[in-house]
Amino acid sequence: MKVLVSDAFSSEGLEVLRKNVEVDYQPEIEPHELVDKIKQFDALVVRSRTKVTAEVIEAGKNLKVIGRAGVGVDNIDVDKATEKGIIVVNAPHGNTISAAEHAIALLTSLARNIADANRSVKQGEWKRSDFTGVELNQKTLGIIGIGRIGSEVARRARAMEMKIITYDPYISKEQAEKIGIEMVSLEDLFKQADFITLHVPMSSSTYHMIGEKEIAMMKPGVRIVNCARGGLIDEDALCRGLQEGKVAGAALDVFEQEPPGECNLLECSNVIVTPHLGALTREAQTNVALQVSEQIINALQGKQVVSAVNVPALLPETKAAIGPFLPLMKMMGSFYFQVFGGSVDEIDITYSGEIASMPFAPLTTSCLVGFLQHVVGDSVNWVNAPYITKGRGIAVREISTTAIKNYSNLVTMTARSGSEEHIISATRLNGDMRIVRVDDYRTEIIPSTYMLLITCKDQPMIVGKVGTLLGENNINIASMQSGRKKAGGTAAMALQTDEKIPDETLKKVKELDDIKSAFFLYMPKSILMDQ
Ligand code: NAD
Ligand code: MLT
Repeated sequence: MKVLVSDAFSSEGLEVLRKNVEVDYQPEIEPHELVDKIKQFDALVVRSRTKVTAEVIEAGKNLKVIGRAGVGVDNIDVDKATEKGIIVVNAPHGNTISAAEHAIALLTSLARNIADANRSVKQGEWKRSDFTGVELNQKTLGIIGIGRIGSEVARRARAMEMKIITYDPYISKEQAEKIGIEMVSLEDLFKQADFITLHVPMSSSTYHMIGEKEIAMMKPGVRIVNCARGGLIDEDALCRGLQEGKVAGAALDVFEQEPPGECNLLECSNVIVTPHLGALTREAQTNVALQVSEQIINALQGKQVVSAVNVPALLPETKAAIGPFLPLMKMMGSFYFQVFGGSVDEIDITYSGEIASMPFAPLTTSCLVGFLQHVVGDSVNWVNAPYITKGRGIAVREISTTAIKNYSNLVTMTARSGSEEHIISATRLNGDMRIVRVDDYRTEIIPSTYMLLITCKDQPMIVGKVGTLLGENNINIASMQSGRKKAGGTAAMALQTDEKIPDETLKKVKELDDIKSAFFLYMPKSILMDQ
C-alpha cells in the first residue's frame, strides 16, 4: 500500500505510517503535480495547505482513504470523495487543548493590549498609559458552543476567576450543570458578556451568527475572540462595531477568506490577528498526526475507522434488507430535533415487528444522523454518528420486539432530557413513510419537504383559519392530516405546503386563537430520498 503525505506532517506520524505502508513525503507538492501523481496512491494525508479538489479525487483512481490531520475538512471535497467511495478521516481530538489555549492567549492579549504595546515598544516608543488594559477577574465571559474546545476554555477562564455563561442549544441543562456552567439564551449572553468567545462549527445555522443585529445587543465595550471559523462573524459588521467604539476589541485567528487579503479589519488598531494558529503547537501536530495515521492504517486494513466523516455505500446484502428504513430513520431523527429540540440525555429506539429481526444498528445510526445534522452540520454521517453521540453524553439504547399490534413494522424513538420525555413512532405503509404517533397523539403524518405541525383545540374552524392565513400569505397547502387524543380535547395537525413558511407567517399562525403550538419543519430531499 502507498500513502502520499502532501503537507508538513510530524515525524511521529510519519513513523507510524512507515511501519505499515510505503510513504512518499512531499510537503511542498504543487497542485498540478498532485493531480499527476495521485493515481499511484492508496491514501492521501493532508493538513490545510493541500486542497483536495474534485479533480484530485477523480485522478486518484486507487485512493481508498483521505486523512486530514486536524478537525475541519473544509479543504477536502468530501461529497466527491463519498461519491467515489473514498473514506475521509479527520483527527477531532488532537488539537482541542491547543485551540483552547490559543483562545485564552487571545483573550488575555486583548484585555492587556499586548499586540499593540509590543509593536509600539519595538518602534522605540514608551507610551505606558496608552495601553491601559482591563482585568479578566470577575468579568463575564460568554462562550458560544460548549463542546470540546469551549469546555476547555471554560475550565481555564474559571481559574482566572471569570464568571462564565454559555449558549449551546444542543447541550442539556443537566450536562451543563455537571460541568458547572450557567446556560443562557444567546440574547442574554450578548447582553451580559464583557468578553465573547466562539467555539461552534461552521454550518448553515452558524454562518454570520454575529452580525449587526447581534452586535447592537452587546454591552458597550465588549471584546470578541474568534478562534473557530471565519464565517461565524460578519466581518463588515464587526468592523463597523469596532470603528463606532461599540466593540472595544477583537482577536481573530480565523477569517472568512484565508489568507484575508485586503480586509478592512486588518486596518483597525483594536484588532489582534493570528494566521489560523489555534492548532499549531508541536503537541497538537503530533497528536493529530498520530491519530490520523492510525485511522489511515485502520481504513487500509479494513478495520473500524472511528473518525470517518463520510462513508462509502452499504454492503449490498445489508442494503437490500434495511434500505427502505434508512431514510425513515433519518427523517425521524430530524423530525424529533425540529419539534422537540436537541437537548437530550437518552435516546431509546424500539424496533417492533419484522424489522426487529433485521440488522438494525445502521438504522439507529441513520436516526442519529438525522438528529445530529442539525447540531454539527454535514460532517456527521452513519459512520461517525454513534461516536459523536457518545461524546455528547447521550446514551442510546436499542430495544427489539417481534410483538406488534397494528403495523407489520414500527419504529419508536423515545428521548429524554431530565424528567422530560417525547415519543415519535413511524412506519412504512405500502412503501410510504408515515409518522403514526407524536407523544400522545395518534397521527398519520406524511413527511414532506415543507411541513407545518400544529397542536390546537379540537374544534371546528381551526383548519379553515390556518388555511386562510396561509392562503393570504401565498402559501399553498398540498395536503393535510390530523390526529387527536379524544374528541373535544387537543388535536395535532400536519400540513404539507409547497414552499417554506417564513418566520413572520409562522408567528401569525402561533397567534391564532386556540393554537397551542406551531412548528415549521424542513426536510431536504437528502433526508426523504431512499438511499
Ligand atoms: P465540538 O463539536 O466539540 O463543539 C462544538 C459545539 O458547538 C457543540 O457543543 C455544539 O453543540 C455547539 N453548537 C453547534 N451549533 C451551535 C449553535 N448554533 N449555537 C451554539 N452552539 C452550537 O467542536 P470543537 O472541537 O470544540 O471545535 C469547535 C470549532 O473550533 C470547530 O469549528 C473547529 O473547526 C474549530 N477549530 C479551530 C481551530 C483553529 O485552529 N483555530 C482548531 C480546532 C478547531
Ligand atoms: C482544525 O480544523 O483542525 C483547525 O482549524 C486547525 C487546522 O485547520 O489545521
